[in-house]
Amino acid sequence: MSDPGTDPREARIEAVPLTPGAKGGWRRVKGPGIFALAGLAAIWVLLPMVSDSWGIRFGAPYRVFFSLAVLGSALFFILLNWGPIPAPGSPLTTFASIFLVYGATVGGVMSFGLWYYPQFEIPKPAVEQARAQERGKQAFLSPAANCFACHSIEALGIRGGTRGPDLSAVGAQAEARKSGTPAEDYIRESIVNPAACLTPLPASGLAECLPAADPARTYPPLMPPGFKDRLSDEQINDLVTFLMGLKGLAEQDGKSR
Ligand code: HEC
Repeated sequence: MSDPGTDPREARIEAVPLTPGAKGGWRRVKGPGIFALAGLAAIWVLLPMVSDSWGIRFGAPYRVFFSLAVLGSALFFILLNWGPIPAPGSPLTTFASIFLVYGATVGGVMSFGLWYYPQFEIPKPAVEQARAQERGKQAFLSPAANCFACHSIEALGIRGGTRGPDLSAVGAQAEARKSGTPAEDYIRESIVNPAACLTPLPASGLAECLPAADPARTYPPLMPPGFKDRLSDEQINDLVTFLMGLKGLAEQDGKSR
């Protein structure tokens, strides 16, 4: 580990022949602590400095893994330094010690994996939500619902009709449409009971919907009222999830392109 040339005493000890069982046959390995520090410094200071142009990048999972390998090997030598290990006295103790080492290493690696990897899985609800959004999009585009006959979603490149408002940011705007009504409930109501509150025209400068049609300030009450009967509850839920996810051009960037 350390340079034997630097310390004359060290050099003398080096020369002691290592006959098994002889006195002085066991000696400490120097420097596992320094090795660990140098390793950790390389992993956490040097690796992040690797230029992206090299085409490799070591993310946090890799660095944690490398660090554990470094700490594990340093710990191995620190434990060895504890004292000479007596040779097992019988086949049974040999077997027991092999079994112990095997259990500790394999068990350790396995329990680490069991704890570590699930953290990088996409949580189930997120997967389910992404599926619901996809189904909602399909429903939106389906001839049965025909939403796109009146609505465009410019943020997703969906160029439909223009009689209804562009829904690119409806998930962000819905919260302010009706005070005291959560965004999700407003969107649901807009589908099942569209005449309840009319979307303000963009030029009106209003964020809230208005209970009565006003040609100067709201869209006309054109949206058909029968979606509650024409679409299943699941389809309406999926549509709401899909529309809730529309937060405008900025957030859609990268997702849609
Ligand atoms: C015949 C045209 C037409 C069709 C078809 C239509 N809409 Fe609309 N929609 C409108 C109009 C007009 C408005 C604005 C007036 C209002 O609030 O009812 C609107 C408003 C909305 C709003 C409120 C938007 C906001 O920012 O407040 C949502 C959400 C909505 N529609 C969703 C849908 C969905 C989902 C479908 C398909 C199931 C659909 N629309 C089908 C015309 C239509």
